[in-house]
Amino acid sequence: MTAGQPEQALAQAVDVLLRGGLVAFPTETVYGLGADASNPEAVHAIYLAKGRPSNHPVIVHVAQAADLWSWVSVDDQTKAVAQRLVDQFWPGPLTLILKRNEAVPEAVSGGQDTIGVRCPSHPVAQALLTAFAQARGSELAGVAAPSANRFGHVSPTRAQHVRDEFADLVRAGLPVIEGGDSEVGIESTIVDLSRFSLGHGVALLRPGGISASALVRVLGEPLKGTDDQAPRVSGSLKAHYSPHTPIRLYSLKQLVQDALAWLDQNTGTVAVVLRQCELGAIQELATNQRISISVLPDDAAGYARALYACLRALDRGGFVELRWAKVPPEPEWAGVADRLSRAAAAFADSRPNH
Ligand code: TXA
Ligand code: MG
Repeated sequence: MTAGQPEQALAQAVDVLLRGGLVAFPTETVYGLGADASNPEAVHAIYLAKGRPSNHPVIVHVAQAADLWSWVSVDDQTKAVAQRLVDQFWPGPLTLILKRNEAVPEAVSGGQDTIGVRCPSHPVAQALLTAFAQARGSELAGVAAPSANRFGHVSPTRAQHVRDEFADLVRAGLPVIEGGDSEVGIESTIVDLSRFSLGHGVALLRPGGISASALVRVLGEPLKGTDDQAPRVSGSLKAHYSPHTPIRLYSLKQLVQDALAWLDQNTGTVAVVLRQCELGAIQELATNQRISISVLPDDAAGYARALYACLRALDRGGFVELRWAKVPPEPEWAGVADRLSRAAAAFADSRPNH
């Protein structure tokens, strides 16, 4: 599929979805790998493509906020809270978990009685979802889509990332719709409202594009954390979003000390990643030929936007390790800090040269 013919590309993509096939498409958070959410076999194909365990639910993407109610079954109290969030944040990077309507196939909910729904704001996602809903002509028109990456790997924020990730499927005809770089750059914030009427309030399952403080301002009450009874979220696995190259997180001081010691004892090159404002603190490393320094923006939103492209580029750079400066503890960094700690968790127990 080429970027030059957006309308034709969309029409083809809708056709593929209607026939039960997969389509990769842009959203403002990350690119998604989509299928007709009301077709269990099509949804199953997403799991196969990603190598994702079948008990991990996928998010259903809808064209308009009002479509939410066809997918869920809610009491009045829960509906009022969901409506407040929808009015404020949709279309946008917020996923709501609610009790699933009985008409919804179990495949999208990973066997749970809940469903995750999101209305993305990206104009290409909007156009695709609207065209798909029109073509379906039924109430239940939605596109089930996890991030378009292999299970546990880094999410894609541009079409080329998807083509890199699924080269085999693309060769076999997987359409990848162009939509430029994803503006938010990390996955949607996920809140659980499925147990609101039981007095569990609104629980934050995954920090992301919408900050916790923005949610609290609208809700007028604090968010709850998760517990054992909360719906399962694969993005909440301790290790997730991982590159193939080992990545480790450091305070700035540790980073410099550790890198100098490492250089003495090992061969090969390492990548160091930090924010623009931190460059001055690592001058001792700057001139070393075996250290490659990458700089990310100082603000949380800019950093999030650049994060996955940077991880992917460094992962292909042939480095022995990626040494990453921890981000600030302030709440606006929560989404980025969460992704970095999960990316690093996969390598926490493997420190061969240390
Ligand atoms: O920004 C995003 O959310 C992107 C774009 C493509 O929309 N999608 C995304 O999908 O990140 P995925 O599958 O990589 O992560 C979706 C998360 C998973 O952790 C999944 O477990 C959770 O949403 N989820 C979906 N439905 C759920 C449900 N019924 N109950 C609990 N968690 C659910
Ligand atoms: Mg994902």
